Amino acid sequence: MDNIIDFINLHRERYVDELKAFLAIPSVSALSEHRADVTRCAEWCAEEMRRIGLQNVSLKATPGNPVVYGDWLGAPGAPTILFYGHYDVQPVDPLNLWESPPFEATVRDGEIYARGAADDKGQVFMHFKAIEAHLKQAGRLPVNIKVILEGEEEVGSVNLDNFIVQHQAELAADVVVISDSAMFARGVPSICYGLRGLVYCQIDLRGSSTDLHSGVFGGAVANPAFVLAQMISQMKDRGGHIKIPGFYDDVLALAEEERKAWAELPFNERQYKKDFGIPKLAGESDYTTLERTWARPTLEVNGLLSGFTAEGAKTVLPAVAMAKISMRLVPNQDPDKIAQIFEDYVRKLAPKTVELTFTRMHGGKPWMTAYQNPYVQAAARSIERGFGRKPVFTREGGSIPVVSTFQEVLGLPAVLFGVGLPDENAHAPNEKLDLGNFHGGVIASAILYDEMSRVPK
Ligand code: BES
Ligand code: ZN
Repeated sequence: MDNIIDFINLHRERYVDELKAFLAIPSVSALSEHRADVTRCAEWCAEEMRRIGLQNVSLKATPGNPVVYGDWLGAPGAPTILFYGHYDVQPVDPLNLWESPPFEATVRDGEIYARGAADDKGQVFMHFKAIEAHLKQAGRLPVNIKVILEGEEEVGSVNLDNFIVQHQAELAADVVVISDSAMFARGVPSICYGLRGLVYCQIDLRGSSTDLHSGVFGGAVANPAFVLAQMISQMKDRGGHIKIPGFYDDVLALAEEERKAWAELPFNERQYKKDFGIPKLAGESDYTTLERTWARPTLEVNGLLSGFTAEGAKTVLPAVAMAKISMRLVPNQDPDKIAQIFEDYVRKLAPKTVELTFTRMHGGKPWMTAYQNPYVQAAARSIERGFGRKPVFTREGGSIPVVSTFQEVLGLPAVLFGVGLPDENAHAPNEKLDLGNFHGGVIASAILYDEMSRVPK
């Protein structure tokens, strides 16, 4: 391993230059105007995968954006890692809040700033460079590896489940490795053993065929903005408890040992509030901040639109109002079931004065694994070797819908080894990735393959 680590240390600057090229491609999956960029990014990944020495590299068509596949299967008898990541990124708005252009990666104070730096291009690239170091320096990898990258993670991975079902045999492996999550804190590397699931819906209300004069019609015609606000206010009580009947039926209670372990993590609530400009924390009173975000379900309004919002005043009764609402789910809640009871509840809340359109957008199951798994333990050793510190075990509030599919369809355990930081602005302006963590992550990933090669099959 020493010569591989030397190789990595020698090429640090090149890595950053190459990563900049990856980050320059605006592969925003949510916006149709970026469709061609998304495909271009898939092609860039395929080229890069060939350059680093992967074989059988190809773009696989799906009804949406292509999956990029490549493998190296020259270690018969050794375990096979399925590495999963995503090359799509979130939209960049509000653009005016970026201190440097989102698709011109810029290094400031040891951090690389660009959309996708942490989520997830930087972390995918870290594995590319670890694979390259093995293949260029040793001529081989100690494990077999199959890489799949998708271009629709940020829009709910709607085509990936089918893809996995259709390519089951090709994707057979012993373990899934994913780097698309965060470290617990700076200097505290971690392994994530649980993710929340998601249900995402849109509610549209119409109160009239066109906007109306609020003086002429106000009082006689329902205001959809107001009705929507009233409906939303019925979804959660002041204590943060969700009022949809049956919502909590399948929620797995937090294990006492998890509560104890989490209470010992170096979490500083005052700093957390300061970092994110939060006046006072909110949520269910019986749970700590980590418990609220890692192990409790939520219902959030992600967007709200209605009426006149430009400069000045306009007396108008808006014809329509719209809300995007999502729920984060925890084991053992089922997204289809939750979507159904939410829709039923919304239909009941909507008065006859408005026309309701309810749209289910996407969802994903929550996921949790036992961290006694030998592959997880191998990852823990490699992180300790790479970062000089034992990782802590965390759950996270975010979602990666495909993780539960890997478990259910391919029967694979997953190892989530992320090197982002909670304050790296994923999905927000000025997304960044700490380059120290990136380089440490390349080394830890290279060691990870080595450690995993010794897990008995
Ligand atoms: N990298 C995140 C998921 C994540 C965030 C994991 C924080 C652990 C900690 C991923 O790219 C993401 O944002 N996922 C979406 C999924 C959704 C669109 C189905 C999410 O969580 O909102
Ligand atoms: Zn994301």
